[in-house]
Amino acid sequence: MFTKFLSFVLLAGLARAATLQRRAVDFYNPAANGGSMLDSVGGGLGEPLNVIISGQSSPDVLTTDGVVNWARAVGYSEECFGLHSGDPQTANLGDGNGSTDQLVELRQDYHNTGVGTCWESIVGGNHFRVWKQNGTAANSGALFLAASKEKPVTDHHTIVDDGYDVGRNELVQNALGTKSHGGVTYSTTARNVTGLLAAGATGVNHGIAQDGIVTLLTITIV
Ligand SMILES: *[C@@H]1O[C@H](CO)[C@@H](O)[C@H](O)[C@H]1NC(C)=O
Ligand SMILES: *[C@@H]1O[C@H](CO)[C@@H](O)[C@H](O)[C@H]1NC(C)=O
Ligand SMILES: *[C@@H]1O[C@H](CO)[C@@H](O)[C@H](O)[C@H]1NC(C)=O
Repeated sequence: MFTKFLSFVLLAGLARAATLQRRAVDFYNPAANGGSMLDSVGGGLGEPLNVIISGQSSPDVLTTDGVVNWARAVGYSEECFGLHSGDPQTANLGDGNGSTDQLVELRQDYHNTGVGTCWESIVGGNHFRVWKQNGTAANSGALFLAASKEKPVTDHHTIVDDGYDVGRNELVQNALGTKSHGGVTYSTTARNVTGLLAAGATGVNHGIAQDGIVTLLTITIV
């Protein structure tokens, strides 16, 4: 009985250590294990994964429901009545899972969750897609985001000139500081990372050049 209890304590300790260890990194570089900082839209092209939500963020942010609630706090929500205006994209984060579908796509909601995203679909604006790096080969728990700014639907949702950098910067601007939604308050800090994503337009969807900067967000529930 006592040894059983002891091994339970030991196992609980190990599980805790493993959890702590998993959260000890911001992210793993996808390219180190066959992945890419460009997602895939087909035809060999992709959009830059230009924002990373650190694996050291509060664990409750690093789930689909968690990132959706955070997104609402910073002015984005799920697509207009669940209607997708574009095809889902895939990404390979080098975590051993290969190419996976985006978990969710969120649009700027112009402070009117639900109807606002429909407005965004019509007038154009910021949106982002989300993937999670949690395969066993690189289990950081980080979320990788492809952020961009689109033209109105009449232009078939193409990206505005410089739309990857602008989409990233506007998302980060909206996110910084203290924001709340649904009874949860988030404190968000940012740091730019270079050397993950090549600057330029090579392989980039619509041939739109981007500056190669990836902004790392650390989001803490306070
Ligand atoms: C990895 O993340 C996905 C998406 O949030 C989730 O469904 C899955 O349970 C997670 N897997 C593990 C092993 O944590
Ligand atoms: C990655 O693979 C692991 C192990 O099969 C699985 O638990 C996890 O949900 C996958 N992650 C995603 C984001 O699909
Ligand atoms: C990251 O780089 C962009 C583009 O140069 C800049 O606008 C932004 O202020 C930088 N953010 C941080 C946190 O340094």
